[in-house]
Formats: sequence, structure tokens, C-alpha cells
Amino acid sequence: MNLLTLVRSRFVGPLSALVTDIAPLLDMIRPAQDAKFGDFQANFAMSLSKQLGKPPREIAEAVKSQLQIDDLCELPEVAGPGFINLRLKDTFLAEQVAKIAGDDRLGVQPAKTPRHVIVDFSSPNVAKPMHVGHLRSTVIGDAISHTLKFAGHKVTSDNHIGDWGTQFGMIIYGYRHFRNQAAFETEAVSELARLYKLVNQLSDYQATVSKLPATEQAVDDARNLLAQQEKAAATDDKLKKQLNGLKKQITAAEEAFKSAKETVSSVQQNPSLLAMSNAHPEIARKAREETAKLHAGDPENNALWNQFLPACLEALNRIYVRLGIEFDLTLGESYYNPMLAGVVQSLKEKQLARLSEGATCVFVEGNAAPFIVQKSDGAFTYATTDLATIQYRRETLHANELLYVVDKRQSEHFQQLFATTRLWGISDLKLLHVSFGTVMGKDGKPYKTRSGDTVGLESLLDEAITRARRIVDENDEKRREGAILSGEERAQVAEIVGLGGIKYADLHHNRESDYVFDWDKMLATTGDTAAYMQYAYARICGIFRKLNLDRNTVATSGAAVLLTCPEERRLVMQLLMFGNAVDNMLSEYRPHLLTTWLYETADSFSKFYDRCSVQDAESEELRTSRLVLCDLMARAIRTGLSMLGIQVAEVM
Ligand code: ARG
Repeated sequence: MNLLTLVRSRFVGPLSALVTDIAPLLDMIRPAQDAKFGDFQANFAMSLSKQLGKPPREIAEAVKSQLQIDDLCELPEVAGPGFINLRLKDTFLAEQVAKIAGDDRLGVQPAKTPRHVIVDFSSPNVAKPMHVGHLRSTVIGDAISHTLKFAGHKVTSDNHIGDWGTQFGMIIYGYRHFRNQAAFETEAVSELARLYKLVNQLSDYQATVSKLPATEQAVDDARNLLAQQEKAAATDDKLKKQLNGLKKQITAAEEAFKSAKETVSSVQQNPSLLAMSNAHPEIARKAREETAKLHAGDPENNALWNQFLPACLEALNRIYVRLGIEFDLTLGESYYNPMLAGVVQSLKEKQLARLSEGATCVFVEGNAAPFIVQKSDGAFTYATTDLATIQYRRETLHANELLYVVDKRQSEHFQQLFATTRLWGISDLKLLHVSFGTVMGKDGKPYKTRSGDTVGLESLLDEAITRARRIVDENDEKRREGAILSGEERAQVAEIVGLGGIKYADLHHNRESDYVFDWDKMLATTGDTAAYMQYAYARICGIFRKLNLDRNTVATSGAAVLLTCPEERRLVMQLLMFGNAVDNMLSEYRPHLLTTWLYETADSFSKFYDRCSVQDAESEELRTSRLVLCDLMARAIRTGLSMLGIQVAEVM
């Protein structure tokens, strides 16, 4: 049941009598912004007025007179320039909510035409530091997968791990020349991450040191230019405006120089690093050669790859297990290696790809940069793999829709990928980049876990749980009746609250925005947080325990729901809008539309609970009715949170 869809359906007849294209008009029937206008408001009359050349109020009155809606709504009102205000009847609401009593799905039916959606998410690069951005992808992708499944679609979650990229060349080179065998034997993944960072640092150093004088010169040049312009600007207003741009250029050049100096001194001030760099000139090129050999099937490099991979996957798996996240498929980039030559061949045959400066490229209109599918040294790219993956997902997995939950800094890649796919002749597949912003630290810079690798991510989860534990302890100890949780129970609850906090903090922001990672906000028990919802859930379970009543029995007793005060009505309205929230979330794949609904519903519950006494309700009937609503609220929280990959506990 979706209230909004139901209300809109009643306008189909009256609107069709006026115009043919009614879809955009139906879209203009929305939940009212302000309760004083009722529950829903239709504001299509203004737009129809232009089409029909009649005053909007007249149109609104005409539509209203044709409307058959008195089983759902009070008499509609035409207000202002031509809004139609609709208020659902209390009897209708009471009836509807009674129908969904005890239903974990809150009356939401599975889709009539299910789609097969592949959700590509998490997808970290193995053996390379995994960062909080991958955690974002993991949490958002998981929420989208759960919600799609809830809505009745077939979902395949696919962890498209980067297990074939250039980082392997660096690791192989590092392993051959710099490995600490003992460390590798005890903690392979940390040692590989160290080797990756080391080779990366040395290549950065070598690339930077030779350019350092030029980088410094750029600062001087920018300063000189500014000095000249300043003189000229004294007599010219137009030039004055350009000064700011120049000042920004100076800052950028200074920053570039500063970071270059840091890169250089980090090696030069460390004699052993400097000795390594001197003994391994052109390290970047040599590492690239190792990657090329790996891709060309060199047995030694492939043996090393086979040796490294299981440990890397295991380290990732530890994180997924802790987060309670499962994938239907984990087909890394390496899986597609045998298909890459065929992709390039096919693009060439269709005359989409051509040679440019030695590389095979597709040129997509509107994009200055070419989409490179094979480099001049013969290596295939991230792009080639993604094209092969699309073909596989369409032809072998028979998907209808592919979602890529990936950092927005990769937008250009996906834009070119999708455009190339269309040119390639694939038109029956929906492709969407579900992009997201950056997690920021309080210092305004991208948030980094302490060691910046999977280990860092694990300690992040540990910290969440430790902090949550303090809250759980405190709440348990300050109970009026005294503490009730055992140590083990507290640990379980802390896990649920800590992980829920991290996930929810991410999901309740519009995914495209950057957000600041803030422990205190994330674990607060009031406000828009997982802990707030989880405590509300446990409180409701507590009400039933105290009354010694079984929630299921009350919920399925067939009792009538009575609407006696505005807070009660508001809560019922919210509960009945769940289907709408799910549709909204899925129409743009924005989890925050679901958290917003959860928060608003929990908020109306807390107002209801403050205002309407449950235990001491005026009558037995009213008490049962309110208990049914309490139970339904608990189900709303449990279902809503579970769609976000977050758990609840009956006692906390
Ligand atoms: N491994 C990539 C990265 O860490 C993300 C991959 C996303 N999925 C894809 N099919 N391109 O940046």
C-alpha cells in the first residue's frame, strides 16, 4: 500500500479528461508541506492553466468536481491560486492502519514487475590501503541491495575488487627487493601494504625530486606576475578583479611546492630510504614492467599474485564479516582478463576504437579526454575491464540494471563508460553511477584512519564498539530498577550500537555531500542517529515486557485502532507513508530518504507517547489500540533499520 499512489490514482480520470500527458501532473500531487493544508496537496492547476488557457482556480474547481475520493478524503478544498488540499478521513486511516497491524512490511507489497539489478559496491583495491571511501561504498551499496530486495527485485551484489591493477607491479617489485620475510610470514597483508607504500613513496620521490626546481620556479613566476598586475591594476578596475584569480594561483603553486618538498625530504632525511632510492632508480617504470609481465601471463609473477591474493581477500573478509555484509559474487577485475582482448577487438571492428599516440582509444563526444582501452605498451585498463564486465553482466547474468556505488571523483570514468557502452550497441541495460562524496575529518581534510589500510579500518570499527560500550554501560547503570544486562549482553549491544552508528551516520547524509566524521554525533542517543532508533525500539519492547504482554498476540488480535488526538493521527499517517519512503529511496537510490522517514516517524512516535498515555489509557480498547501502534512502530524501526544493514536489540 502506498497512500500517495492511491490518492494520485483518483486523479487519473479527471485529469485524462483534460489533457493526454498526465504523468507530470500526477507528480505534482505531493504530501502537504504544512499540516494546516491537510495531508496532500495538488498544485497542477497552475501548470494546466498555461496549457488550457483558463484561470487555475477554475481548473482546480473543475477537477475537484470530477474527483471520486470521498471514501478516502474529507471534502477537498481549493485554496490560494488553485491548490487542491486533501485531508484523509480518520476512519480511512484507522481502517488502513488496523490492516497492517503486526505486519513487518507495514503493508508494502513486492513489485509486480521485478527487475534484476546488479549492485557493484565496496570494490576495494586489494593489497592497497583500503580507505573510508570504500566503507562508504560498502554501507551505501548494502543498504540499496537490501531495499531493492525488500521491494521484490532480484538483486545480485557484486564486489568488483581491484585485484589486477598496477599496484601489483609495485608489490611484486617490493616483494622481490625489500620484503621482511618474518613480517610477511606473520602478517602478510600488513607487509604487502608496507611494500606498496614504500615503492609508491620511492616512485613519488623520484618523480618529484627532478621537478622540484620547476615547482619552485612556478611559485616565483606566479608572484612576479601578481606584482606586475598589481601595478597595472592601480589604474585599471578590470584588472583589479583578476588579481584574486592570481592570488589563488599563487596559493595553489605554494601548496604544490610545499607538498613536493615534503615528498622529497621524507626520503632525503631518511638515509635508508635514500639509499634504497639510489639503488633502485626508475622504480616506477620497473614496477610497471612487473604489472605488464603479470598481465602477459609471466609464470613467476602469476605465482606471486596467486600467493598474495588469498591473504588479501581474507583481510577484506574479516571486515565484511564484522559489518555483517555478504556478497552474492566477488568477481574481481582479474576474472575478466581473458575477455579483454575480445572487447578491444570488437570495439575496433565496430570502428569505435582507434589508435591515438600508440594507445587504442574510444572518443566520446563531449569529452576532451579519450577513453583508453589499451595502452601503448599493450596493457588493458580499468575501462576495458569495466566494458567486459558490462557485457558479462548482461549476457551471462541477464541483468536489467547495473548500479555502481563509487566515489563521485570517478564520474568522468562512468560517463565515458556508459557512453561507450551505448555506442557499442548495448541499449537495453539501465546504467547508473550511484556516486557519493568524501568523508571529511574535523580538520576539513579527507578523513584518514590511523594507518590508512584495512587494519586501520578494523581499528575504526573497534573504536566505534568501545565508545558504544561506554554508552551502553552508562545507560544500563542509570536504570531506575538497577542494571539488567550481563557483560556479554552489553558487549552484544555495544556491537550493534557501534556498527549501527557508523553505518547510519553515513547513510543519513545525502550521499553526494561530503560529511564530517564525528564520533559524538554518530553515537548520540538523541537526534537522527541509529542509537536513537535502537533505544526507541528497545523501549517499546520494554513497555510490553512490563505489562507482561506478547507483542504478536496484541498486534494480531484484530483490535480496532482509535484516533483520539492529533499526535496519534500524525503517527498513523507516518506509518502508512512507509511504502512511499521506500519508493522515494529507490527512485534515486538515496538512503537518506529512508532515514528521514525513520527519523520523522520516530519523532512522531515520541510526541504520541508523550501526549497519549498507553498504560493508563481511558479505556481498555484505547489501551489496546495504542499498544498496536507501539508494536507497529517497533516493526517500522526494525524493518527500516534492517534495510540499512543495521540491527536492533530487544533489551539495551
Ligand atoms: N576498485 C575501484 C576503486 O577502488 C572501484 C571499482 C568500482 N567498480 C567498477 N566496476 N568500476 O577505485
